[in-house]
Amino acid sequence: MGKLNEAWVNAAFQEADLSNSKLDKFHNKIYGAASPRLLALINNLCAADNVNYLDLGSYRGATLLAATMGNPTATAVGVENYSYEQTEIRPNEPDGPGGIWEGMKNELSYHINRHNKETPDINPEATTLVEGDFAEVDYSKFPKFNLCFMDIFPNSPDTYDTFFEKVLPHLSHESVVIFAGVSDQDKMEIINKALLRHQDKFTEQYEVIRITHSMANHKHYYNGIRLMGLKKKLISTVKKAVTPKKVATPKKEA
Ligand SMILES: C[S@@+](CC[C@H](N)C(=O)[O-])C[C@H]1O[C@@H](n2cnc3c(N)ncnc32)[C@H](O)[C@@H]1O
Repeated sequence: MGKLNEAWVNAAFQEADLSNSKLDKFHNKIYGAASPRLLALINNLCAADNVNYLDLGSYRGATLLAATMGNPTATAVGVENYSYEQTEIRPNEPDGPGGIWEGMKNELSYHINRHNKETPDINPEATTLVEGDFAEVDYSKFPKFNLCFMDIFPNSPDTYDTFFEKVLPHLSHESVVIFAGVSDQDKMEIINKALLRHQDKFTEQYEVIRITHSMANHKHYYNGIRLMGLKKKLISTVKKAVTPKKVATPKKEA
């Protein structure tokens, strides 16, 4: 095994490009916004030492459960609010009680149970599901994450601002972030602009992009991915800690 670094990422891609990984039929067949190559990539990245993986937008569990399969030192946290069901005619109008898609919740729970009970040598404690809006999650409850798949959909510039403001502080000093959906040029542009708005927070160490010819491409990386090796800048954290709060000056009496 080895560290999750640029060399590991390149090796993980080499195998994932051939859909090679430790995933079995059950994991590869979970219905989702994912493809065998994308799942293989996550599985291969999580084979590095002590990966703590954050899966933002877990849907029915395909990308979440790919993390720990055959990877004894990996842990994974999935976040899902059951708000968007891509198989429905009106995907963002959940019809279940509590304003959620009940069917998605049941499927995700079934898949997690099956993964925990039927996967050989799996640690059932290794995967955690957080149900709710990713903007509201208390990420400080978990050890820092060194790999994150940002797959919240639908999304907007605000979604990425939330990512950089609320999630990035809980990634380790050096981490790998994968953005989904970049085969859509408009999405790539939104991500580029978000990266510029938040460039005071990190430096980019390396990057791998896999664009697909079409969206939902099961033979390639589904909607396209952009993987970035990030190093957080300490400066913005330090600045926040040392900048004195402004105190109102009392007005002089006449
Ligand atoms: C593209 S799908 C994720 C696909 C998934 N990674 C897979 O393996 O198939 C996007 C998911 O993000 C969820 N979502 C959308 N907005 C969210 C939010 N604010 N917080 C948490 N989940 C959200 C949707 O309900 C949907 O399941």
